[in-house]
Amino acid sequence: MHIGVIGTGYVGLVTGACFAEFGVYVTCVDKDQSKIESLKKGIVPFFEPGLESLVNKNLKNGRLRFSTDIADAVKDSLVIFIAVGTPPRGDGSADLSYVEEVARQIAKNMNGYKVIVTKSTVPVGTGERLKKIISEALNENHRFDIVSNPEFLREGSAIEDFMRPNRVVIGAESPEAIAIMRDLYRPLYLIETPFVITNIETAELIKYASNSFLAVKISFINEIANLCEKVGADVHVVAKAMGLDQRIGPKFLHPGPGYGGSCFPKDTLALIRLAEEHGEDLNIVKAAVKVNQLQRERMVRKIVSSLGDLKDKVIAILGLSFKPNTNDTRESPSIHIINELKKSGAVIRAYDPAAMNDMKVLFPDIIYAEDPYDACSGADALVIITEWNEFRNLELERIKSLMKDRYFFDLRNIYEPSKVKDLGFIYQSVGRKV
Ligand code: UDX
Repeated sequence: MHIGVIGTGYVGLVTGACFAEFGVYVTCVDKDQSKIESLKKGIVPFFEPGLESLVNKNLKNGRLRFSTDIADAVKDSLVIFIAVGTPPRGDGSADLSYVEEVARQIAKNMNGYKVIVTKSTVPVGTGERLKKIISEALNENHRFDIVSNPEFLREGSAIEDFMRPNRVVIGAESPEAIAIMRDLYRPLYLIETPFVITNIETAELIKYASNSFLAVKISFINEIANLCEKVGADVHVVAKAMGLDQRIGPKFLHPGPGYGGSCFPKDTLALIRLAEEHGEDLNIVKAAVKVNQLQRERMVRKIVSSLGDLKDKVIAILGLSFKPNTNDTRESPSIHIINELKKSGAVIRAYDPAAMNDMKVLFPDIIYAEDPYDACSGADALVIITEWNEFRNLELERIKSLMKDRYFFDLRNIYEPSKVKDLGFIYQSVGRKV
């Protein structure tokens, strides 16, 4: 089977490379010429473990190719995935102009029956809308079907999530399109992946409901963590015991500085907006969004209330990306925290294994360190914002000898409070008793 994937961002590239690995012939298309030239050479423009080697392997065996020509991909392919961006508009709703433009171009280049699949996260009703746009833009009378096949890829483990997903959701009306989609995902049938086959609107809503629910879980545990600090309880034990209840589950109950990334902040707002358009108020999702903002602010207050006046205080920041194993800094809690510390006159010495180049665009004027030890050199305080593995086993004696003062804010709770305290640090976590 030949398929086309339009958009070589994070979702598109992972989808294209993984389907090629499944044995499908894939043409990935992007209008960005320089990006396509790099990809043809096997250079992936962002950091995702395992992706570059998968791209190179499938480039070499001829199952994966890159092009700027959408016509080329449409003509050769039975299935075309739309994986272009849906950035938030000012009011939180998703901007569908890229998706709609791609749909028009697909329509103009159709040469037979096509299955047109939305992989981008799109509001409920987009499938219907695309059907209309494509019907109007068709040059000749070709048959086509629309499918919603939302992605659930986590940055940093996207290949694993694609190859071994918890479920595959396929929203479609036509049995023919469903059969083709099942065939495409056949390798996952073999490993008994659950398939949810439903209508387009339900599939579209599943994505928003899933992401928003996870955001709610995180905000919930963050509020419980804050309460733990007041009553002397340990949030890790609370979360562990809660998670042992199978109705709750142990995942996404890790407290911290709040969620970030390209999905949760955007998708929660888009779901709230969508509900409002239909006269519904999603109070729980709204609360999760508010708590997330308050959590970032609380992290800054934690630092300020310990250090006092921040003027000329040196603060080492470890971790800039919104989570480990990615260079993505979109909506990262580090942005808010650094901004506020800078405003109060602090000198920032930051280190991240992958995200420093991206952060330099936002903060050209902070100090970017060589490694965690360089970041801590002369620092009054150390703040861990992202739980990269390489921060889990720092030589704390060495850090102590390099720092000017001993404040240690572990915003991801990766250290054992009593051990760090015994070493002489003034340690604070999120919701754990010291
Ligand atoms: C998310 C969804 O998990 C994925 O299914 C969807 O398709 C895209 O959005 P991603 O944004 O890559 O994936 O990251 P994820 O691992 O879900 O983490 C999101 C944010 O929540 C990160 O900032 C992370 O640090 C935070 N988080 C996650 C917590 O603070 N606590 C947790 O327990 C889990």
